[in-house]
Amino acid sequence: MIILPLTLFIILFSMMVSIVWYTLKTGISPMVSSKKARDTMLSCVDLPINEPIIDIGSGWGTLVVAVAKKHPTQRVIGYELSWLPWCFSLLRKKCLGLTNLTLYRANAFDADINSAGVLFCYLFPEAMEKLYHKLVMECSHQIIVVSNNFALPHIQAHSTVTLNDFYRTPVYTYYYEKKANG
Ligand SMILES: C[S@@+](CC[C@H](N)C(=O)[O-])C[C@H]1O[C@@H](n2cnc3c(N)ncnc32)[C@H](O)[C@@H]1O
Repeated sequence: MIILPLTLFIILFSMMVSIVWYTLKTGISPMVSSKKARDTMLSCVDLPINEPIIDIGSGWGTLVVAVAKKHPTQRVIGYELSWLPWCFSLLRKKCLGLTNLTLYRANAFDADINSAGVLFCYLFPEAMEKLYHKLVMECSHQIIVVSNNFALPHIQAHSTVTLNDFYRTPVYTYYYEKKANG
């Protein structure tokens, strides 16, 4: 009699532990971009484009699914380390039949960003610093970075939209291009 509730408890507990473990490991929980933030992030770029869009930390797939659904010809890639959100996003992709969406359970900082046209992110200050260095080291062409809430250091944003929400959340857009002298 106790087997079923115990099994359920163990499953739910393991799920919780997994979320907490990856939150500590990556430095951010898998919270989703709000609808306002998603809409604004999407309006910051003229889609579709030839190069893929990458979401650096795609979480439960909320943003990547919205982009892939709205632009069926646009290649969209999500990288996510946390198992549970990644499995959930994969399920969403399968249920919606989004063949233009690829979801990797991998470290986004190992991704080949040089082939991407746009990077979306909703991270935290230390990760934005890391992303800046990745851009400097790996990016040989112009790339657009759209960030929810956190600014890229060392670069002036091309535009900043302040959301009409409780936190007055900023959404930053950058046109990153390597300078000729490095
Ligand atoms: C705040 S959520 C954003 C989710 C989604 N991009 C959105 O806007 O709704 C940030 C996600 O990034 C993931 N993440 C952080 N660092 C990562 C890394 N190096 N590689 C892959 N995923 C990462 C976290 O696990 C978390 O799920």
